[in-house]
Amino acid sequence: MSEQLVLSESQIIDICKRLGKEISETIKSEDKIPVIVGVLKGAMPFMMDLIKYIEVPVYLDFIQICSYQGTKSTGKVQLLKDTSFDCEDRTVILVEDIVDSGLSINFLKNHFLSHNPKRVMICTLFDKKEARKVPTDIDFTGYVLTGNDFLLGYGLDYNELFRNIPYVIKVDEEDVKRYNEILHNDK
Ligand code: IMP
Ligand code: MG
Repeated sequence: MSEQLVLSESQIIDICKRLGKEISETIKSEDKIPVIVGVLKGAMPFMMDLIKYIEVPVYLDFIQICSYQGTKSTGKVQLLKDTSFDCEDRTVILVEDIVDSGLSINFLKNHFLSHNPKRVMICTLFDKKEARKVPTDIDFTGYVLTGNDFLLGYGLDYNELFRNIPYVIKVDEEDVKRYNEILHNDK
């Protein structure tokens, strides 16, 4: 299988340190404690590392959506689990693993905007810029991808597999389909 390293564990930590500083600087003088919302499940590993480098008090929460099947977005976003925090007048920072078409993050941004927050900001580890279908302003970006490669590891999955790889690789679509055999044998 042809796979190529996109980000190593130490590169990921360097990105988290930089973003942690940027976020801390942005939210250091808020009236209400900001809430960092991780988008389940993909953003879990990234969020857990990122928050270690945020140097001001924050609340943590999670929201869950789904839109992807295999290596393709279905184009329809579904809310599976909502947050429990009162976001009124609070800064909300959404943490994503990757922004691709932009549909998921725009859906989530609109979801939070309807709860009268102070503002909704977006932090993503990866920005797949060329795949964008909806214009999306990203406030904190870890790594900009050129091209439309399919990535795996550090939260990023293929049909729920390989989220636990501690670094990020890119694989080609034909290769990734061979993983279906693993899923097929999971009776
Ligand atoms: P969007 O709604 O098209 O922006 O898709 C965002 C979501 O699709 C991400 O949160 C991921 O769950 C998933 N996704 C997009 N690109 C990839 C990829 O290269 N590998 C794994 N998941 C991806
Ligand atoms: Mg995701």
